[in-house]
Parts: sequence; C-alpha cells; structure tokens
Amino acid sequence: MAASRRLVQSVAVITINHPPVNALSSSVRHALVEEFGEATKDPKVEAIVLSGSNGNFSAGADIREFGTSAVKTVSLEDLNSTIEASKKPVVAAIEGVALGGGLELALACHYRVANIKSRVGLPEVLIGILPAAGGTQRLPRLIGVPAAVDVIVRGRHIPATEALKLGIVDEVVQDNTIDKAVQLARKTIGRPLDKRRLSIHPIANNLYMQDLLDSAEAKAKKQFRGAKAPLACIEAVRAAVHLPFHKGVEKERQLFLSLWATGQPQAQQYAFFSEREAGKWTHPSGGRWETVEPQRVRTAAVIGLGTMGRGIVTSLSKANIPVIAMEQDAKQLEIGKKAVNSLLEREAEKLKQQGFAPEGKLGTVHFTLNFGELKEVDLIIEAVYENMELKKEIFRKLSSVCKADAFLCTNTSGLNIDEIASVTNRPRQVIGTHFFSPANIMRLLEVVRGQHTSLATIATSMHLGKVLGKVAVLVGNCPLFVGNRMLGPYLEQANFLIEEGCYPEEVDQAMEEFGFAMGPFRMMDLAGLDVGWRSRMEKGLTGSKAPEGLPARQRQGSRYSPLADILCESGRFGQKTGKGWYQYDKPGGRNAVPDPWVNDFLRKFRNTYQIQQRSSSPEQIVERCVYALANEGFRILEDGIASCPEDIDVIYNNGYGWPKHRGGPMYYASTVGLPKMLEVLENYSNANPDVPSMKPAFMLKKLVAVGGPPIKEWRTQVGKLANKL
Ligand code: 3HC
Ligand code: NAI
Repeated sequence: MAASRRLVQSVAVITINHPPVNALSSSVRHALVEEFGEATKDPKVEAIVLSGSNGNFSAGADIREFGTSAVKTVSLEDLNSTIEASKKPVVAAIEGVALGGGLELALACHYRVANIKSRVGLPEVLIGILPAAGGTQRLPRLIGVPAAVDVIVRGRHIPATEALKLGIVDEVVQDNTIDKAVQLARKTIGRPLDKRRLSIHPIANNLYMQDLLDSAEAKAKKQFRGAKAPLACIEAVRAAVHLPFHKGVEKERQLFLSLWATGQPQAQQYAFFSEREAGKWTHPSGGRWETVEPQRVRTAAVIGLGTMGRGIVTSLSKANIPVIAMEQDAKQLEIGKKAVNSLLEREAEKLKQQGFAPEGKLGTVHFTLNFGELKEVDLIIEAVYENMELKKEIFRKLSSVCKADAFLCTNTSGLNIDEIASVTNRPRQVIGTHFFSPANIMRLLEVVRGQHTSLATIATSMHLGKVLGKVAVLVGNCPLFVGNRMLGPYLEQANFLIEEGCYPEEVDQAMEEFGFAMGPFRMMDLAGLDVGWRSRMEKGLTGSKAPEGLPARQRQGSRYSPLADILCESGRFGQKTGKGWYQYDKPGGRNAVPDPWVNDFLRKFRNTYQIQQRSSSPEQIVERCVYALANEGFRILEDGIASCPEDIDVIYNNGYGWPKHRGGPMYYASTVGLPKMLEVLENYSNANPDVPSMKPAFMLKKLVAVGGPPIKEWRTQVGKLANKL
C-alpha cells in the first residue's frame, strides 16, 4: 500500500509508504486521498497525524512522473486543499526530509512537528521548476515574503532548528517524532483552526514589498543568467502578494506550464538523475565496483597543505574523519596549520548556526612532519606540487611506511596514475582522487582509475566521495582526465577568437550570457596564467620562436596561440599579480576591468601577423567554444575515459560552472542536434586543417551515422561503437 492508516487513541496516523524517499507519485496521492477520506468520516478519529515511513516524510513529487500522464491524475494541490479544509486538526510529523511537494503537503497541515535531524525546503528551482502545489502561496503567508523568497529562490535544504526559527515548523523534537505529533494533535482537538489555515492568512502588500521583489528579480537575473525557474519563483511570490490565494495558485500552475515549455526543467531533471547514476562502470572482466563492499575509512592523512591539501583536510574533518596533516618542513606546516584551523573554525561556526554542538561534529586534525605517523592510517591523499618525480618519491615512502591494506590516493590534476602506482608495492590500491578548488566547498570529485586499480579501491573512493558530500564520478586515466582535458580545446578557441578580432571581455560576456558562471578569460585570470605556462615550458610546449624573433603561431605542426605565453613573459599572471587578461585594483583583487593595454597589445599582435580583424557575434563565439568542448567530450567517450555522456555532464555541472539549465555540454549537444554540430565542426575543420581539436570526433560521426539517437541511448551506442574502434 502506498499509504496506511492506524488509530492511536483517537488520532489517525496516516503513513506514506513509497520507498526510498516517499516521492508523491500518482499512487501515493490516490492512497492519501482515500486515507484522509476514511479518517475524516470515522467518528472515532478526532485528529490526524501525517507521517512518512522509513525515516523520511517525503522528498516531494515523483520527478520521474513529470511529462507523463500520471501527473494529470489527483493533483497534489487538490489534496492539500482538502487537508487544509479538514475540520479535524492535522499535524505533520516530519522525519528525514520534507522537500518540495513534501513540504507543501506539510504546509497544508495545521501544525508541523520536526525531528532535530530533519531538513525541509522547496528545492524545485534546482530541477528547473517552481513549487507547484501551493508552496509559493502558502510559504510567504507563513514566514513572510523576504524569507520565503530566499527559501524558494535558493532552493536550499533548511535544518530543523533553522526551520523552527523561521516559523516553518512549530516544534522540534529530539526523538519519537510521531508520538510527539500525536500528543500535539490530541492537545489541539476542539481548537479553532482558521488561524492555522495558511490559504486564508492575510499577506502584506506595500511599497516595500514591491521594492523587495524587484531587487530579488534583478539579483536572480544576474546570479542565474538565463535560468528561468528562479524568475518564475519570484513571479509566483509576487502573485501571492497581489492576488487572492486561489488566483495565486492558478498563476503558479501557469508558470509551471510555461517553464516546462522552455526545455530547462527537462535539462535539469536529466542532470538530477545523471548525478544519481554517476560513475557506474563495468570492468573489462565484467566486475562492477557498485557490487563491492567499500572499506571503512576510519582515519585519513593528507600530504601537502597548500591550496588543495588544506581544503581536503577540512572536508575530511567535516565528515568527522580524524586526519593526520603532513608538510615538508616546519615553516610550511605552521602556515598549513593556520590555514586549516581557520577553515575549521568557519565550518564549526556554520554547524553551530545549524544547531549542532560546537565541537560535536568535526574530526580531529593532527599536524606532523613525520611519515612514521602514517603507519596505521586507512587512506592517504597526496596533494604536493604537480611534479611526477616528487609524487613518485612520496608514493615510494608511503608504500614502505603504510599498513598493507591502506589506500594511496593522489590529487594530481592530470599526471599518469599508472606511473605513480608503478613505484609502489600495491598498484591495486592506488587511485586518483581529483578534488576541485576550494576542496572543502566544490562538490565535484573525479575518481581516476589506473590500469591496476581494484574494484574495492574504486568502491572505497566513490563511497568516501559520498561521505564527504561530494558528487564522485569515476573516470579513466589519460592526461588531464575528463574535465581539464575538455577545457583545452575550449580555451584554445577562446584564444583564437581574440587573435582574430574579439576582445577578452566580448568573449567572456558571450559565454556568461550563455550561462557560464565565468567566461574563459576571467576564469584563466582567477586560476593563474602562470600554472599552465610553467607546465608548457617544462614540457617544451610553448610556441617556439620564429626566425624573425616573433613567437610562433604553430606548435608541432598545429596552430598555436602564443598570447598567454606573451602575457606571462610580461609578468601578467592574472588576479594574483593584479594583471592578466584584465586589470585589477591590486594583486589578489577580484574586480576584473577591461585593460586598454591588452586591447592595444592585441591590435599590435594582429598587425604584426597581418591578421585581418573580424568580429564574431555572441552566437558564433558560443558555437566555437562550446562545440570545441563537446567535441572533446565525444573523443573522451570514444577513448572509454568516461563511460557515458551523463558522467561528463555531471563533471561539467559540478566542477566547471556550466549553466545547469542547459544540462551539461553533452546534453547541450543533443539539444543542438548532432548533425548540426557535425556540420559546423566539419566546416571549421575544412577551413582550418591545422586545428586538430576541431576535427569532428569519430564518435560524433558514428552517432550521426546511426541516426543521432537521444542522449539516454548513447550509453549503449557508445559501448557498441567503442568496442568496434
Ligand atoms: N522523485 C523521484 N525519485 C526521487 C526523488 C523524487 N522527488 N527524490 C529522490 N529520488 C530517488 C533518486 O533518484 C534515487 O533513486 P535510485 O535509488 O533509483 O538512484 C533515490 O530516490 C534516492 O535518492 P538519492 O540517491 O538522492 O538519496 P540521498 O539520500 O542522497 O538524497 C534526497 C535524498 C535529499 C531526497 C535527494 O534525493 C533529493 O534532493 N531529491 C529531490 C528532492 C526534490 O527536488 N524535490 C522536489 C520534487 S519536485 C516537486 O515536489 C514539485 C511539487 O512542487 C509539485
Ligand atoms: P600548492 O603549491 O598550493 O601546495 C603544495 C603543498 O605541498 C605545499 O604546501 C608544499 O609545501 C607541500 N609539499 C611539497 N613537497 C612536499 C613534501 N615532500 N612533503 C609534504 N608536503 C610537501 O599546490 P596545490 O595547488 O595545492 O596543488 C596540489 C596538487 O593538487 C597538485 O598535484 C595539483 O596539480 C593538484 N590540484 C590543484 C588544483 C588547484 O586548483 N590548485 C585543483 C586540483 C588539483
């Protein structure tokens, strides 16, 4: 049964039963209508408690039903209206999560009791829609417009203690949530309920409200460029302010339908399910890591406490895992210790605000210079400089010091995992755990399997990712792995565009209007231009000097842009030096201002090389950069480095500021249409045979040849095609 009912004293306890998260599918909605009907009619019942089974109230509407006919059966808002109108008091007993439609259901109840560990929220905006079962109308009436706008537009999960402060729930309890809800229900029998019916609450409508909504709209336009759902959420709250409840609900419904027509919800829901499927992979032997029991990581160590190491230590500590943090000398150890402690203080403060005891939640960190102390640690993450010889030296030491079953991980952003593993006595337990900066905040974790990495090592690292609250994606071992490898052709096109006539700010603006959090030039300035430059110099890959002393625009027979190298030679490393593609008010400044020096430099560069300046429209800029990115994605599929397009999209959505409402670069390719993408790449490639990165990938051609199937079918096509290569 999708819902059940039992009588406790004179209270009917109705329980939603739809594992794993009690999504409100059509069958659940039908069952709830029936159980409420029975409870309302039953003379023995004086009050009702609504709860969920298996420790969860409800994660909201069943996302898989959107776009199907199931969604048209009993509407959740009709059910909510029935509950709210009930003459018998109804109390929601919230355990686990009450999200989206789950919270909307709870808001229709007259009272809400929440367990201290529960979370509530209206995260619909994150899947491209708005709360569409009265949530945008009831929540502002309950907690006021400013707080409601914040909750609905950000879609964040709110811990129970904060929900109590905001007034979303009436009571927070430590345990026995359902019993306590029954007690509250009994107390409320016979009390007047009108004040508890949110739909008839008055709502303030004054000039201040208009200003507030206008500025929320302006902020959302800037922050979520191109995404429609945040704006629809604000429009719906505006309707709550201006219109009576039933008209507001109608508006909410219309907004939902118009959002659906934009295609953005489909992209974001694809991204939601892709994330849950991420990293599934079958070993050539047929084995699957998902079926292997991960080892428990009771203790961990991090070597190197620079930019990445300190974030990784914090992330482990946040997950309550005791960490040993190591550096190369006393000075670096002291610097690292200060940085880690300051990050931990911030985390502790956040936990305190969420109602946790200040010391209760973080794992301890022990700082050392002594390798001997790593003897008993379960898992070690190396985060020293990106230098193969140094990494090998560290792994040799780890191999001799650490216990036999310890896992050895490297945070390298692109070095060969097999080469690192080769110096150890346990290549099966060596793996890449590629965190993103700042590691305590960014959700993405690329888990890089080497040739010998065992399924148990993969399972343990993927599980660790989940424990750390990350989205872990399993990828194969190749230079730069997936995310950074795809960036190469993307940045190359950005550079070519400015050689040909665009300015950095034009390219950035086009990409930011497309929805990227940051255009390519602002991103390079933030990351530091010197990082790539040094690595190119180390490998002898900067443009060699042409005979007349000018930097060459060819490298190993292919077109090469020397622009970034020239900038670095003049000490322009980006934000850190206060100058790069842009200028900043000071070294480390963040406000990028177009620099006349750069534009003058570009003009001279074009003159020197006799490049005829031509302009490119924002559409052309996007096309060149994004098609280059996706084309490399097809190559990555071809090489078996990512096992499906969904994994690539999860990487881009969570680690590279890709606009979520566009699903990811591979999903975007599917919406553009593979034949169109192929044609554009072919035209470019024919005109520019010296740009190999734009040569259409074999996988793209093959997918077009088999009729350009929808993306959900690529996984099987990719498997079949990759086998034939
Ligand atoms: N609909 C359908 N399936 C859902 C779902 C939902 N709302 N929420 C979760 N699931 C599924 C997942 O796909 C996954 O399925 P799988 O086991 O087959 O892979 C399973 O439930 C467990 O989910 P997670 O792996 O994500 O489990 P976690 O414990 O990590 O997270 C969660 C649980 C916090 C509930 C997370 O799943 C989540 O955020 N879910 C979505 C919540 C949401 O967006 N709700 C709004 C829905 S839209 C709505 O309510 C519209 C309304 O306004 C009318
Ligand atoms: P960093 O230069 O900020 O820090 C490296 C740290 O390692 C320094 O504190 C240094 O003292 C320490 N170290 C060097 N030799 C050591 C030794 N023998 N023993 C102990 N500690 C030693 O470097 P960053 O940026 O943190 O990078 C670390 C690794 O993470 C590199 O492999 C890098 O490619 C990778 N990475 C970097 C990202 C970034 O955005 N900075 C992103 C993802 C991966």
